[in-house]
Amino acid sequence: MRILVTGKNGQLGKSIQKIVNADTKIENNLSPNDFIFVGRGDLDLGSERNISHYFKNNKFDIIINCAAFTQVDKAEQEVELANQINYLALKKLASLAINQKARLIHISTDYVFDGESNKPYMETDTTNPINAYGKTKLAGEQALQEVMPMNAVIIRTSWLYSEYGNNFVKNVLRLGKERNELNIVSDQIGSPTYATDLADAILEIIEHKKFRDEGQMTQIYHYSGEGEISWHEFAKEIFKIEKIECEVNPVTSQQYPMPAKRPRNTSMNKDKIIEIFNIKISNWKSSLNTCMKILKQK
Ligand SMILES: NC(=O)c1ccc[n+]([C@@H]2O[C@H](COP(=O)([O-])OP(=O)(O)OC[C@H]3O[C@@H](n4cnc5c(N)ncnc54)[C@H](OP(=O)(O)O)[C@@H]3O)[C@@H](O)[C@H]2O)c1
Repeated sequence: MRILVTGKNGQLGKSIQKIVNADTKIENNLSPNDFIFVGRGDLDLGSERNISHYFKNNKFDIIINCAAFTQVDKAEQEVELANQINYLALKKLASLAINQKARLIHISTDYVFDGESNKPYMETDTTNPINAYGKTKLAGEQALQEVMPMNAVIIRTSWLYSEYGNNFVKNVLRLGKERNELNIVSDQIGSPTYATDLADAILEIIEHKKFRDEGQMTQIYHYSGEGEISWHEFAKEIFKIEKIECEVNPVTSQQYPMPAKRPRNTSMNKDKIIEIFNIKISNWKSSLNTCMKILKQK
C-alpha cells in the first residue's frame, strides 16, 4: 500500500501523522511505512506543472488531500491562489488519481452552505457559499465529482482545531491569559471538530471494505464533533476547562465585522458517515478536554 497524505504541516496532516506514528490505532493490514506525508516543499499545489511532475515519479493506491488554502479572510483578497489550490489543484489530483487507479479522500467544509437553514444540513442540501473560500471549496467538490465519479470520498467538516498550528482554541487560550475580557461572536452556530477525531475517521474509512471495493460511487459525507454551539459558548468552555478568569462578552457578527462573511448556522447531519462507515462521533466537550490536556503537556 502506498498512501499519500498532502498538507503534512497542517492541523489534519499532523493529526494523521500522530496516529500513524503512534502505531496503536493502525489496523493490522496498514503499516506506518505505507504512508508518505508531503508538504508544500515536496508537492506544491500552486502549480499544475509541479503536480504533474511529482506524480510522474510517484505512484499511489490512496491519496488523502489535507492541503488547502484555509485562510477564510485572506481568500477574499487572494481569490486566484485560493482557487488554484482548492479547485484547480484538486481537479488535477483527481485526474492523476484516475490514471494511477488510486482512491482519493478529500476534505471540504461546512462553508459551502449559506447557514440560513434551521435544521442540520444533509449532504444533499443545496449549497450556496457566501464567501470566496467557500466558493473555491465548492468548486473543488464539484470538479472532483465530475472528473472522478467513482472511487473518491469528500468529507465536509467544520470548526477544526487541534494542538497544532493556528486555531480558535489556541488563540482564545492565549488571549484569555493576556486579557480580562474578550468579545466573541454568539450568533454563528456550528460544531467544533477535533482534528484527531477526523484523522481517526479517515483512517477507519481507508480500511473499510466499502471504500476499498472497486466501483464505489464518489460520495459526500458530513463529519464534525457532536453538538452545536456558538463561538461564544466554545470560548467559555475553553476558559472553564483551563480555569481562566476572563470575561467572555457575546457580540453579534455585525458588531465584529470580518473581511469574509460567515454563515449563521452550519450544523451538519452526520447519519450517512455513521451508517456507511460505522464512524463514531465524539461529543465536542470531551474532545476539547482531550486536546486541552495535550496542549497543557506541551
Ligand atoms: N480549519 C478549519 O476550521 C476547517 C473547517 C472546515 C474544513 N476545513 C478543511 O479541512 C482541511 C484541513 O484543514 P486544516 O485546518 O488542517 O488546514 P491547515 O492547518 O491550514 O493546513 C493546510 C495545509 O495546506 C498546505 N498548503 C497550502 N497551500 C499549499 C500549496 N500551494 N501546496 C501544498 N500545500 C499547501 C499548507 O502548507 P503550509 O504549512 O506550507 O502553509 C498547510 O500545511 C482543509 O481542506 C480545509 O479546507 C478546515
